Amino acid sequence: MAESNVIDGRAIAEQIHADTRVRIAALKARGIEPGLAFVRVGEDPASRVYVGMKERMSGQLGIRSETRVLAENATEEELLALVGRLNAEARVHGILIQAPLPRGIRAARVYAAVLPEKDVDGFHPVNVGKLLLGDPGGFAPCTPAGIRELLVRSGVPTEGAEVVILGRGDIVGKPMAAMLCQKAPHANATVTLCHSRTRDLAAHCRRADILIAAMGQPRFVKADMVKPGAVVIDVGVNRVPDASAKGGSRLVGDVDFASVQPVAGRITPNPGGVGPMTIALLMQNTVRAAERAAGAG
Ligand code: GUN
Repeated sequence: MAESNVIDGRAIAEQIHADTRVRIAALKARGIEPGLAFVRVGEDPASRVYVGMKERMSGQLGIRSETRVLAENATEEELLALVGRLNAEARVHGILIQAPLPRGIRAARVYAAVLPEKDVDGFHPVNVGKLLLGDPGGFAPCTPAGIRELLVRSGVPTEGAEVVILGRGDIVGKPMAAMLCQKAPHANATVTLCHSRTRDLAAHCRRADILIAAMGQPRFVKADMVKPGAVVIDVGVNRVPDASAKGGSRLVGDVDFASVQPVAGRITPNPGGVGPMTIALLMQNTVRAAERAAGAG
């Protein structure tokens, strides 16, 4: 059988964790334990799962974590007060407020309240600005940063490449575009950012050397939208009904994996592609925040 074209996100995440473990050991040798605070508002089932996975990985690496949960009907002021307390706690080096937040809470106001040096999610306007300006001193959002690492560690060049991103969200699409268009190593791409108002989306997709699907439409990308040999990155996490699955539903990506895999040069599986990389970059950002707080970053 020909070698698999599937990019193993779990294995690449493990490479990053190995480096993170060394850095954590160095911090602990100086008496510093990296600390990460998770904030959830309400009981969104997906958010519970995501935060649970991040907590578990923190524990496995030796990052102290704590999770604060506010009720679904918590006010913006209550959430801001909690963020203020976490900002002031020296043993909390990183703060992650799981999105999406309930309606009625202005997410932008909440993310702007996190101290930029504790903003391991990279959502604070200062960190967003640094990313756009190509200043490596900020924190980059974990999913796009994880995708860039996947490309780098899989040997996929971006220099001069046509990158087409589907989805202009603040968490993935926009920062991904900002990252890959920089005049810098592992960037220098020609980036097209497509969205719900894009005309002839399929034609844009077919030009892509690297196609990044992050728009939240189950199995949207089909084989006839992919140039033969293109690298396809699937960011989507969509719950769809499936009578044969436990609980009557299952998770699928934004890419129709079965039909696209034979056409693609390389492709991420879902799960096991982008997800583990997001967590790996969160852990890395947290350790960096702790190193900086200790004057070692
Ligand atoms: N919801 C989906 N992705 C993310 C993420 O990277 N960070 C946070 N805080 N919430 C999310």
